[in-house]
Amino acid sequence: MVTHFLRVVAFAASAWCFALHRRNGTGLAVDIDWNDVLMESKTTATLQSVANPPLLSNSSTRVNALESLRTVAADYVRYVPWFPYPRLAVPEINAPVINETHCSTSWDFSYADQLLLDFMASTPDVSHIINFSTTPDWMWVTDTPYTYPEDVNTIDWNYNNGTQLRDPSLKEISDYYRRLLSWYVKGGFTDECGVYHESGHHLDIEFWEILNEPDSEHDIQPDLYNRIYDAVTEAIHEVSPNTQFVGLALATRNVTWVQSFLNPANHKAGTPLDWISYHFYATPDNSTTQNEAAQSFQQADTFLGEVVQIEAARRQISPHTKTTIDELGTMDPLGSTTVYPNYTIPEEYWVWSGGIYAYIFSKLAVVGIDAIGESQLSGYPGQYPSVSLIDYHTGLPTARLRALQLIQASLRPGDKLVKTTSDETQIHAQAFETSQGQKRTLLVNKLDQVAGIQVPGFQGGTAEIVDVSTGGNPWRTEKVAGNSVNVAPYAIVVLTEA
Ligand SMILES: *[C@@H]1O[C@H](CO)[C@@H](O)[C@H](O)[C@H]1NC(C)=O
Ligand SMILES: *[C@@H]1O[C@H](CO)[C@@H](O)[C@H](O)[C@H]1NC(C)=O
Ligand SMILES: *[C@@H]1O[C@H](CO)[C@@H](O)[C@H](O)[C@H]1NC(C)=O
Ligand SMILES: *[C@@H]1O[C@H](CO)[C@@H](O)[C@H](O)[C@H]1NC(C)=O
Ligand SMILES: *[C@@H]1O[C@H](CO)[C@@H](O)[C@H](O)[C@H]1NC(C)=O
Ligand SMILES: *[C@@H]1O[C@H](CO)[C@@H](O)[C@H](O)[C@H]1NC(C)=O
Ligand SMILES: *[C@@H]1O[C@H](CO)[C@@H](O)[C@H](O)[C@H]1NC(C)=O
Ligand SMILES: *[C@@H]1O[C@H](CO)[C@@H](O)[C@H](O)[C@H]1NC(C)=O
Repeated sequence: MVTHFLRVVAFAASAWCFALHRRNGTGLAVDIDWNDVLMESKTTATLQSVANPPLLSNSSTRVNALESLRTVAADYVRYVPWFPYPRLAVPEINAPVINETHCSTSWDFSYADQLLLDFMASTPDVSHIINFSTTPDWMWVTDTPYTYPEDVNTIDWNYNNGTQLRDPSLKEISDYYRRLLSWYVKGGFTDECGVYHESGHHLDIEFWEILNEPDSEHDIQPDLYNRIYDAVTEAIHEVSPNTQFVGLALATRNVTWVQSFLNPANHKAGTPLDWISYHFYATPDNSTTQNEAAQSFQQADTFLGEVVQIEAARRQISPHTKTTIDELGTMDPLGSTTVYPNYTIPEEYWVWSGGIYAYIFSKLAVVGIDAIGESQLSGYPGQYPSVSLIDYHTGLPTARLRALQLIQASLRPGDKLVKTTSDETQIHAQAFETSQGQKRTLLVNKLDQVAGIQVPGFQGGTAEIVDVSTGGNPWRTEKVAGNSVNVAPYAIVVLTEA
């Protein structure tokens, strides 16, 4: 383990030294040592889908969106009903009404079922991380009772209120999740009034994530999070004993949270600490394409440093716990939450954003992260349009989705990552040998200039390319004759030796 870390550090340092010798975008050398295997990749490239109205059964883009999802469905694909749509995310939207003469509940899965069952049907034969992250607001102590919007299309940023659960014993929240799981895996459940609700669902839920971004939602502190995690995982295991759990889902990369969560002394004996998760978004503020991309690659480098710190803590405290970085994305400052009037997110954006994912994926494969999930299938004005993997007008893929698909098709768990050095100021490169013995190199051009590169020893083959000209279409394949390759601006390229 220690040796491996030193290698990563040495690798980063040599790449940095190499940058001193860059030659202005032409003749950039990519040096590969096929005999120096850094490690066998165990990283899965995947994505998350956040449930929202464009995915409802009556939406005109639903069919294309689900087909796009099917194109990139991979293990650990993550599904998150989220709080801005209370009626889509919370199947028990009102508190039960229980008094001496009356007992009624509001359980209603009509939206939750539409969305989850479509998601499951579009992601066959892979494992799923399901995260009904939003707890009902009525379980939290708030100053005034809160009313959610009746219209399912309305985005409500105020839903997630309160910092204290009204039932501090955690029985209420555990019962909620036990019933929810039981609906999906055991065919139904008995509600608070003793009434049985039959679903007929017998899904296999492999992974369940506990809450979302507790470091920003409800202002939860690590101690409360750990207690909720223990109580809810115990309740879920009663109805779905084989489900594994994903903890944390941090918005920030806060090592204090990771250390607290991974310490068995902070949990009930026997609580499984299977996985942790955390998130990263590049959020540039300079709205010209070139500056956005440059800022985003810089922020990505900061994030990569944070991952190394978290990994050090994880390896020390709980080495068997796996990691999924299950939200990775970028935002166009003019299209972050909504889209500015008269602004169209440019094609270049979707390409360099795909490049950020490819870059981080490549760097973290060498660190040994288990799964890296791109965020998010469906975004649209009001809900992070520039984080979308599909075109929100049509539901068809963007270049971000194609870049993810290209990585999935090329670099798989089991491939051998070998020592690769390049001028990281313009070109990121990572070579690998597939389990079938094919020699491949992933290239990411970080700039909007063509990069003329030399790959000593490369004797020709093919280049598969996602760039501005291919956009949301499938990548193009070109023949490469010698060892010089021109990499288009912001392109994501996979070279395969003949
Ligand atoms: C290198 O790039 C700089 C800045 O774009 C430019 O001024 C210079 O002429 C280039 N040099 C060569 C040799 O292309
Ligand atoms: C879909 O149905 C919901 C209610 O079930 C409605 O609020 C929404 O406007 C409908 N969307 C479309 C596109 O018709
Ligand atoms: C019990 O709740 C029902 C429904 O809210 C209400 O109509 C009824 O008046 C309540 N009864 C008592 C005794 O509070
Ligand atoms: C919920 O939170 C929002 C934003 O913090 C706040 O404006 C609103 O007053 C809160 N509502 C309640 C009922 O606490
Ligand atoms: C569950 O999803 C929410 C919403 O995206 C996210 O903030 C949270 O981190 C997720 N939980 C885990 C454990 O990943
Ligand atoms: C990390 O989380 C801890 C616990 O919530 C908090 O006290 C600390 O301020 C956080 N650190 C950062 C940098 O946000
Ligand atoms: C954006 O980048 C341009 C070019 O580097 C620079 O002139 C400008 O000051 C930057 N704007 C901001 C807000 O950082
Ligand atoms: C958007 O474009 C229209 C038509 O060109 C123009 O009338 C309008 O003022 C523009 N709006 C903004 C906010 O620039």
